[in-house]
Order: sequence, then C-alpha cells, then structure tokens
Amino acid sequence: MKQAKQKVLITGGGSGIGLSLARKFLDHGHTVIITGRNLSKLEKVKAELPLIYIFQSDVTKEEDVVKLVEQTRKEFGGIDVLINNAGIMNLVDAGNEANDLQKQFEEIEINYHAPIRMLHYFLPQLKESKNATLINVSSGLAYVTFSQAPVYSGTKSALHFWTKAIRPQLKPYNIRVVELLPSVVDTQLAHNADLKDDNLTPMPPDKMADIFWKDYSKGKEEITPGLSKQLKLMSRLAPKFIFNQLNKKPIPTSK
Ligand SMILES: NC(=O)c1ccc[n+]([C@@H]2O[C@H](COP(=O)([O-])OP(=O)(O)OC[C@H]3O[C@@H](n4cnc5c(N)ncnc54)[C@H](OP(=O)(O)O)[C@@H]3O)[C@@H](O)[C@H]2O)c1
Repeated sequence: MKQAKQKVLITGGGSGIGLSLARKFLDHGHTVIITGRNLSKLEKVKAELPLIYIFQSDVTKEEDVVKLVEQTRKEFGGIDVLINNAGIMNLVDAGNEANDLQKQFEEIEINYHAPIRMLHYFLPQLKESKNATLINVSSGLAYVTFSQAPVYSGTKSALHFWTKAIRPQLKPYNIRVVELLPSVVDTQLAHNADLKDDNLTPMPPDKMADIFWKDYSKGKEEITPGLSKQLKLMSRLAPKFIFNQLNKKPIPTSK
C-alpha cells in the first residue's frame, strides 16, 4: 500500500516503541510530532532528530490535549495519523491491601481513558484528512492476561475491544483503524516489569518497528509482532494452557 505523506502524532514518542515508530515514519518522509510529559527527554530526541516536532503534553490532562489540538491545527493544519502509544505498566499484587489505589487508577487513565480522549478531541482533524489513520498500541497481553500486572492487562484488553468496536464506526469517515499488539519489547517499561526470570527475550524496539512497518504498509489492521502472534492463536486453541504458561509466577516479587 503506497502511503501519501502524512502528519503523524505519536503520544509518548520520546522513548521506546513510540520513538522507534517515530524514526520509521520520519525515514519514510512523513512529518512526525511526538509528545510526552518530560520535556528534557523530548529535547534530547529533537537534538538527535532535528526534523521531529516535540510537544510537552500529558495525555491524562484535558487542558494539555485541547492545547495540543489547537497547536497542531495552527502549525500543521491538522494531523492525518494519531498514534495512541503512551502507556505505563505497574506490577501489582491485588491481594495486598497496602496497594496505592491512585497509582492503579493512573494506569487506567493513561492506558485506556487517554486513547478515548485523544480520539475525541482529534476526531475533527482526522475527519478532515484525506488519509486518516488511528493506531492504538495495545499489547499481546490483550489476548492472554498477565497476572503480575492485572490493571495493565485489563487496560490493554479494554483498548483491544474498544479498537475493534470503533473500527466499523470510523470506516464511513475513511478513518483506518490499526491496532499494534507488541510482545515483550526492550524498553524502560519492560525493564521496570523485570521480566528476565520469565525466559522472555525482549525484542529490540527498532525490530518491532520494522515488523510494524511491513504489516502497516500492507494494510493490515491487527499487527502482532513476535510472540503476540502465538498468544493470539493459543488464546483460542488452548486458553488455560497459555494462561498457565504465562503465569507461572503470578505474584510480583520485585518493585
Ligand atoms: N515494552 C513492551 O514490552 C511492550 C509490550 C506491549 C505493549 N507495549 C506498549 O507500548 C507502548 C509504549 O511503551 P514502551 O514499552 O515504549 O515504554 P516506554 O519506553 O516507557 O515509553 C512510554 C512513553 O509514554 C510516555 N508517557 C507515559 N505517560 C504519559 C502521559 N501521561 N502523557 C504522555 N506521555 C506519557 C513516556 O514519556 P514521559 O514519561 O516523558 O511522559 C514514554 O515516552 C505502551 O502503550 C505499552 O503499554 C509495550
């Protein structure tokens, strides 16, 4: 599928998967705008990739998102591609009453409420675009629950189902809806989860972006790099087996 030049907004594009996707779109001549909460992180990316545009913007803050909509309209005449990539993963033991409830709600805010908010406010720009795409970055854990991160698993399966539900709704407006469901990728998020003991070798983010690009260019709607393909299949063929395989250690032992 040949892509016309697009204006691409990537939330959480200052590191990890978002940054690798940003490089990919830049390499193909698209205009790329990245956001994040930490301005100095974004400025470091800008120093390395001068063509990229950076905006400090928190996906959980209504006022930040509204301002971003105005800025993108003013500076770029609107966007064509919205990539809901920003996300966090907390390891939580639901059996521990000392858990920080606000931290769990924040995870839901960033991973699930924010993509809904972003689409809501960017919908007019996407409708105006002749080449609109919404890309939601969920996770292979949308197919098989990961007990060590129960809130994360819930948000990613919610994002997966929301994405499937809105796809036919946005079709009449010519907004293509793509879901990227990465498996374990070598980023700060995966390091924080300390998945080393689980014999999972994280995929380099640039390799993940290569797989994404190949499938995205072919027009695929659900992109499942690496282990995610197996998780999808096994969740249908042998759901109990794959759940047990993934959850040999259900309670987080660190952090
Ligand atoms: N790594 C994996 O194994 C893996 C697997 C499957 C899916 N994913 C998904 O891939 C996406 C990217 O994660 P990653 O692995 O690349 O982790 P990462 O390197 O930690 O990147 C996450 C990015 O999100 C930004 N972010 C977090 N909260 C934000 C907020 N409230 N507003 C705006 N930006 C925010 C962070 O920047 P600031 O802190 O500066 O805001 C950061 O740049 C996430 O949705 C994650 O769930 C990751």
